[in-house]
Amino acid sequence: MANNVEMNICVLGAGVIGLTCALNLSAKRGTSVTVLAKHMPGDYDVEYASPWAGANFLPYGAEGTLLAQLERETWPELQRLVNDVPDAAIHYQPVKLYNRAKDAGSPTGEWFSSLMKENPWYQNLVPDFRVLSPSELPEGVDSGKGFTSVCINSAVYLPWLVSQCLKNGVVFKRAVVSHLSEVYGMHHTGKQADIAINCTGLSSLKLGGVMDTKLFPGRGQIVVVRNEAGVMPSISGTDDGGDEVTYIMERAAGGGTILGGCFQKHSWESQPDPNLAIRIMKRAVALCPSLTNGKGIEALSIIRHGVGLRPLREGGPRVEKERFDGKWVVHCYGHGGYGYQSSYGSALEVERLVDSIQNTRAKL
Ligand SMILES: Cc1cc2nc3c(=O)[nH]c(=O)nc-3n(C[C@H](O)[C@H](O)[C@H](O)COP(=O)(O)OP(=O)(O)OC[C@H]3O[C@@H](n4cnc5c(N)ncnc54)[C@H](O)[C@@H]3O)c2cc1C
Ligand SMILES: *[C@@H]1O[C@H](CO)[C@@H](O)[C@H](O)[C@H]1NC(C)=O
Ligand SMILES: *[C@@H]1O[C@H](CO)[C@@H](O)[C@H](O)[C@H]1NC(C)=O
Repeated sequence: MANNVEMNICVLGAGVIGLTCALNLSAKRGTSVTVLAKHMPGDYDVEYASPWAGANFLPYGAEGTLLAQLERETWPELQRLVNDVPDAAIHYQPVKLYNRAKDAGSPTGEWFSSLMKENPWYQNLVPDFRVLSPSELPEGVDSGKGFTSVCINSAVYLPWLVSQCLKNGVVFKRAVVSHLSEVYGMHHTGKQADIAINCTGLSSLKLGGVMDTKLFPGRGQIVVVRNEAGVMPSISGTDDGGDEVTYIMERAAGGGTILGGCFQKHSWESQPDPNLAIRIMKRAVALCPSLTNGKGIEALSIIRHGVGLRPLREGGPRVEKERFDGKWVVHCYGHGGYGYQSSYGSALEVERLVDSIQNTRAKL
């Protein structure tokens, strides 16, 4: 039967997507997984999006899209990790979403449009969903929602994913791959891989093979501070330009607090802009004065400034199987600003595609 067919799988990429796929696939009987990547947890590089993320769960997917499905399927596992697995370094945080009508149509307003909708599809998914009363809204905000979400300390969580994979026998190798065809010869057993899983994020734009020109960067700049927020607010826009936004998230387990940010489409700039950093800090303290007990930005204690490029893709993430030179590849990339919150759903979708390939092979 299909379940007894042995599968050698190479996962290309060790961001949150590659690691979650590797973890999920390595739990299946008869599969042997190698992870190949240029960047691994512990590295900080502008080509590696995952360490820069907050990361929280704010479902952006419009109802009926693949992204919404992936987010829906991810939430229960994140909740299980908060409740039962303290070493994953994820905790609950109270979300406050603030919407300004005038942001409709701006880059950040569009990014937030499904999230801010009335009666959103996720209102029955996340706990404690409610509409904020006018007295809870800061000046200039037209409407708001609250619910309980999570914040993931990615500096602890990514290595935790690696350790869970290692327990399942996954082998990790550093490799810089220039073409898909190289991957099949790189399985740690020395055998040819049956399937390659392509989790290369934004780099899928530049890799050899079929280059996906639907990918583009959505630049995010952050300031990580030692101050505590205790609440996780996000606002749909600012008066500093249509691609700037304000969000705050306190990471679990001493991970510091992320102050964001911006959503600069098509910008590849890897260096923090010091003026933007000041604007980010000013807006964060204005939105959440308790960060510095009303003392302004001088009382922020900065850990680091950072820049990450969200791997955006026109039409949303690509999770698809494809025949390549007589071999199978499963693509899983283009997770924009939602890679963590769609990670387990993505891994489950990849598992379904791998199963369908396995069933075809079993019949041969
Ligand atoms: C500032 C910021 C805030 C964010 N906040 C959130 C949030 O709150 N919640 C959320 O869910 N998401 C958030 N995101 C989005 C999230 O970070 C991304 O969606 C996610 O990290 C994408 O993961 P990935 O594994 O696809 O890509 P990456 O993390 O970029 O990993 C790509 C991997 O592929 C490898 N690779 C690429 N090309 C090659 C090659 N040729 N050979 C070998 N290896 C290769 C890389 O080395 C790396 O290991 C945020 C992003 C940013 C920038
Ligand atoms: C893969 O992940 C999904 C979603 O978290 C889970 O339901 C499924 O059981 C996992 N599969 C394996 C083999 O662990
Ligand atoms: C990953 O997918 C992209 C987009 O189709 C393609 O350009 C790239 O060659 C693939 N890379 C690998 C190594 O699978």
